[in-house]
Amino acid sequence: MPKLPDAVHIIEVGPRDGLQNEPEHIATDTKLAFIRALQAAGLPTIEATSFVHPKAIPQLADSGAVATQLDHSAACEWMALVPNDKGLQRAIDAGLKRIAVFTAASDAFTEKNIRMSVAQSLETFAGVVEQARSAHMTVRGYVSTAFVCPYAGEIDTAKVVDVSKALWAMGCDEIAISDTIGAAAPTDIHRVVEAVAQALPIDRIALHLHDTYGTALANIYAGLEIGVTRFDASAGGLGGCPYAKGASGNVATEDLVYLFDRMGIQTGVDLGKLFAASNLIAKALNRDLPSKQWQRLHAASIA
Ligand code: COA
Ligand code: ZN
Repeated sequence: MPKLPDAVHIIEVGPRDGLQNEPEHIATDTKLAFIRALQAAGLPTIEATSFVHPKAIPQLADSGAVATQLDHSAACEWMALVPNDKGLQRAIDAGLKRIAVFTAASDAFTEKNIRMSVAQSLETFAGVVEQARSAHMTVRGYVSTAFVCPYAGEIDTAKVVDVSKALWAMGCDEIAISDTIGAAAPTDIHRVVEAVAQALPIDRIALHLHDTYGTALANIYAGLEIGVTRFDASAGGLGGCPYAKGASGNVATEDLVYLFDRMGIQTGVDLGKLFAASNLIAKALNRDLPSKQWQRLHAASIA
C-alpha cells in the first residue's frame, strides 16, 4: 500500500468549467447563490468565472458582476480564467487576487480555443503573468489536452513537460495538468505527472480530470499514489468543453469528497452542504446531475 497524503486541496471549478457549457442563460444572482453555497460547504478555492471574450463563452459574460460581488475578505480563495491582457484588466477591476491562464499541449486545440498557437499563447501569458504579479496577484497555469487532443490525438509527454516548465518559469505557482476530454487512464497519469514532477514540485501540480470515459476517480487515485494533493472537481459533475465536443464534466466534487472521506483523507468539505449547493443549481437547470453521490443523496431526499 503506498503512503497516501493525510489531506488534499480541492479546487472547485463548477461555476466556471461547469457552467460555461450551459446553453440556457443563468441569472447572475443564481450563480452567486451557487458560489456562496459552495463556499459555505468549505471549498478552499473556487474558480468563480472567466474573463474571456463574451462571445466565446456567452454564459460567463457577467463575470465582472459575479466577481465584484464575491466576499473578497473571506478565507475562500477566488480564481478566474484570463486569456490575455484585456481579461487581466477586467479581473483586476473586479478585485480578484488569483487568476488562471490556459494553454495546451496541442496547437490544434489552442488554435480553436484561444486562436493562438501554443508558442504564441506562452508569449501572451508571459506578459499577463508579469503584470498580474506586479499587481500582487497569483497565477495558476492550465495545460489542457495533456493526454489526448480531440483534434491531434495522442499527446507527446515531452510537450506537456515543456509547456508546464514554460508556465512555471514565467511565474505560475501551480500547474493544472488537464485531461480535457477525459480519456486518460492511471498509467497515463503516472507517466505524465512523473515526467512533469522532474521539473517542478509535486505539491504544485494539480490534476484537472474530466470523466467522459469514467476513469477520473481511478486517475485521481493514481495521482494520490505518486504524491499529488491538488485536485479540481465540479459540483454535481457539471460541465463539458465547448471546444471539445462530447467531453463530459469534471469529476464530480461530491464523488471526490466521498472517496476522500471514506479513505480518511481530509478535505475540509462537508458533503451534505455540498449536496445543498449542487441542488441549488440542479433546480435552476431543472435537471438531475451526473454525480453518483448527488444521485444517491437526491434519491434519499425524495424517498
Ligand atoms: N474580454 C473581453 N473582450 C476581449 C477580450 C477579453 N478577454 N479579449 C479580446 N477582447 C476583444 C478585443 O477588445 C477586441 O474588441 P474590438 O474588436 O472591439 O476591438 C476583440 O475582442 C478581438 O480581440 P482579439 O485580441 O483579436 O481576440 P480574438 O478574437 O482573437 O479572441 C480570445 C481571442 C482568447 C479573447 C478568445 O478566443 C477567447 O476568449 N477564448 C476563450 C475560450 C474559452 O474560454 N474556452 C473555454 C475555456 S478552456
Ligand atoms: Zn475542464
